[in-house]
Amino acid sequence: MEYTESALPEPNDAERERAETVAAALRERMAGSGAIPFDAFMRTALYEPGLGYYVGGRERLGRGGDFVTAPELTPFFGYTVAGQVVDLLARCGGGDVLEAGAGSGALATQLLAELERLGNLPERYRILEVSPDLKDRQRRTLERTLPHLLDRVEWLEDFPAEPWSGVLVANELLDSLPVHRVRITEEGLKELYVAPDEDSGGFKWQEGPVSDPLVADSLGDLSGLPVGMETEVNLEAPAWVAQAAERMERGGLLLIDYGHPAAELYRPERARGTLMCHFRHRAHDDPFYLPGVQDITAHVDFSAVAEAAQAAGLEVGGFTNQAQFLINLGLTHRVEEYLGGGAVSDEEQLQLATALKQLTLPQGMGESFKALLLVRGVEGPFPGYRQGDRAGEL
Ligand SMILES: C[S@@+](CC[C@H](N)C(=O)[O-])C[C@H]1O[C@@H](n2cnc3c(N)ncnc32)[C@H](O)[C@@H]1O
Repeated sequence: MEYTESALPEPNDAERERAETVAAALRERMAGSGAIPFDAFMRTALYEPGLGYYVGGRERLGRGGDFVTAPELTPFFGYTVAGQVVDLLARCGGGDVLEAGAGSGALATQLLAELERLGNLPERYRILEVSPDLKDRQRRTLERTLPHLLDRVEWLEDFPAEPWSGVLVANELLDSLPVHRVRITEEGLKELYVAPDEDSGGFKWQEGPVSDPLVADSLGDLSGLPVGMETEVNLEAPAWVAQAAERMERGGLLLIDYGHPAAELYRPERARGTLMCHFRHRAHDDPFYLPGVQDITAHVDFSAVAEAAQAAGLEVGGFTNQAQFLINLGLTHRVEEYLGGGAVSDEEQLQLATALKQLTLPQGMGESFKALLLVRGVEGPFPGYRQGDRAGEL
């Protein structure tokens, strides 16, 4: 996600009203026990049907929303990722593309357009999306951009029930799944719950025992971590990946997101964790601000994700940062081909150059974003990992 760090803009009346409704739902949820684990808070704030950030009908992605993702930044993201998709489909001898969490439909447009250009259209392009209004937006996008391919696109309510082969692509989905928040104390690991704050009328953190033994298991040995450190544990991401792997007979899961191997995520330098919130292109770290109206994310523990996939019978096909992944797949060449192919205005060239820098520079999305490929029944080496494969760090 691309964003600006500066003072938060004022919410409008509708946003205040929405945040108050979501806060009331959260207080009701806390009424029994007095406090709820942070993952329950985040689940309500982001996914409560009809209310949550992703399912409440607000514009979220793109220039008019709260953040811009790689496919929103430039279509060359999807055109380039398509290289890895084509390679996997060829190794499977055909199959479907399944995109999970398709946002505005920008990546679907880019992948389909490029697969068509390369003469490699899949029989079906399936989209698994939790948000009813984003499903509508995806359909409208595809109706506008690729009406002749719409009959290949279908929306799923859940992972396919039948065995399937092909490629699952998810960009910035895992980071939006609810996380537990924990603190390392003299007495060991504690969980941070959320309770109503009578003074401010908002919410506050409250320390308590770990709510699920898997939280402590997931973190493992804490001996190298300082007392006072706070961080997040995402139990949903590994579970989601295991579920995604279940029915996939042959092919790959391509997961692109910001995150790190566990050894890098859980280190003293990240003693405040990686929770990040986005409201109208401003990033900050207060998850209690405007519940339901702002996005909440946490960096992905790619080691935990890879481990869950391996337990489900998949292998790691490659792991590298976004810059290396896109460069391996010929981003530069693809852009040069486009620029050489006809009249491109100076303004468009400038916009493209800026977007490419954001995608690949370490201070943009180049290093903090990673691309993890998990495979079953297909052999590498895979083109996205030609150089700089860091699978050994997982
Ligand atoms: C941060 S947005 C990223 C959108 C898009 N992939 C992009 O890169 O622009 C997260 C997307 O994942 C969807 N999502 C979240 N949890 C999901 C789940 N469990 N299954 C399917 N989609 C999900 C959201 O509704 C949204 O479309």
